[in-house]
Amino acid sequence: MSLEEAFEETKKELTITTDQLNEITNHFVDELNKGASVNGGNIPMIPSWVLNYPTGNETGEYLAIDLGGTNLRVVLVTLLGEGKFKFSSEKYPIPEPMRTGNSPDELFDFIALNLHNFVISQFGEINKIEKPLPLGFTFSYPALQTAINTGVLKTWTKGFDIDGVEGNDVVPILQNSINKLKTPINVVALINDTTGTLVASKYSDSKTIMGLIFGTGVNGAYYDMANEIPKLHGKLPDDIVENNEPMAINCEYGAFDNEWKVLPRTKYDIQIDNESPRPGEQFYEKMIAGYYLGEVLRLILLDYYSKNLIFKDQDIKPLQAPFAMDTSYPSRIEEAKDKSFIDELFLESFNIKITSIERNLIHDLCILIGTRAARLSVCGIAAICKKRNYTSGHCASDGSVFNRYPNFKSRAHNALNDIFQWNCDPKDYPIQLIHAEDGSGVGAAIIACLTEKRLEQGKSVGIKSKI
Ligand code: GLC
Repeated sequence: MSLEEAFEETKKELTITTDQLNEITNHFVDELNKGASVNGGNIPMIPSWVLNYPTGNETGEYLAIDLGGTNLRVVLVTLLGEGKFKFSSEKYPIPEPMRTGNSPDELFDFIALNLHNFVISQFGEINKIEKPLPLGFTFSYPALQTAINTGVLKTWTKGFDIDGVEGNDVVPILQNSINKLKTPINVVALINDTTGTLVASKYSDSKTIMGLIFGTGVNGAYYDMANEIPKLHGKLPDDIVENNEPMAINCEYGAFDNEWKVLPRTKYDIQIDNESPRPGEQFYEKMIAGYYLGEVLRLILLDYYSKNLIFKDQDIKPLQAPFAMDTSYPSRIEEAKDKSFIDELFLESFNIKITSIERNLIHDLCILIGTRAARLSVCGIAAICKKRNYTSGHCASDGSVFNRYPNFKSRAHNALNDIFQWNCDPKDYPIQLIHAEDGSGVGAAIIACLTEKRLEQGKSVGIKSKI
């Protein structure tokens, strides 16, 4: 097989046609419905207990932390009302070994210590704080919730793998670590990043219909009417039933098609799954999320190398290390105006000298990988629109792939148009991806505030027995 033939084959495998988009979207709608049914399905469709919409008039000072990727973020948010807010925040990289340790303490004590120091930096001495500060905990993993302040981790995603957390409620684990340091903080709400994004964006833009993350992982949240979620029938407290309140649903749709009925998975996607800490899970996410895009490129290159099509007679050991390329590689390669950047990148990172043919090949592969990710990504959006009969609105989007992968947004809009056939000027597409407000900070603060208000008013924040 020649290099041209190999590339043509890869191109065919990575190209998502309009027919495929439609087939995948239709199956996605079925899977969303199945996930919300009493028996459940692949997609967890987690009721978040975030009830009602923010009004934009919420006010107060709240702490928020965000755990979900490579960094821990700690935020102090002041909600000012009228859809306005201000905040200050700090980022702390999570040391690699903590992401796969054998006890939760190491990670949660690390969070608590940084939180403690952050509070001191913002408020001065701890004993000057009169009443405990309310904290919204953005925990961006599939956590099953029977109330707003609980979250039992179903399974780790995005390469995290710490023993002793799956099957446990992460709120008391965090609260215990906080209490060890005597920091005056109450964890009042557990939030997914997508739910936070949905709520933060709705606080300042009433046209928001969903909150989406295209980052290390991929997921979406939207509002459904609590009474219309089959798996909650009989479990909702009376006040929620009577008021027929909207509730945000954290879909966890990275798990879409784990039964592998429609996704055009390639041998590279299958290898990524097989070698991951949780094979058989998050099939959709593993094809399109930032954690995996560089790995797809790396595996294709290794495959071509094994067929003696590229990097001939070169020692490629550094490239053979799993995850040797993060998503910034395909993203920077596609973005490079001067393609000699690719030569430098391969030489510096992997000590590989590339030819001009290889340079063009690598660039074209990055376009294919990025385009596939964007096109598949919108199937989740289109499915939510179809399920909720949304024909217009803003999809609040955040995450490193959305923010930094070149052309992601325009490719996503093209694919949405392929599905819905608006065929007008792209700026007039009725459904638009819009850059989100800070979901994990501001969103968590608003949710903490909404929760406090509900509790003050004696309203429910969880299933019948857990009010
Ligand atoms: C993964 C997590 C999910 C999160 C998403 C984006 O899919 O399981 O909770 O929302 O990544 O960060």
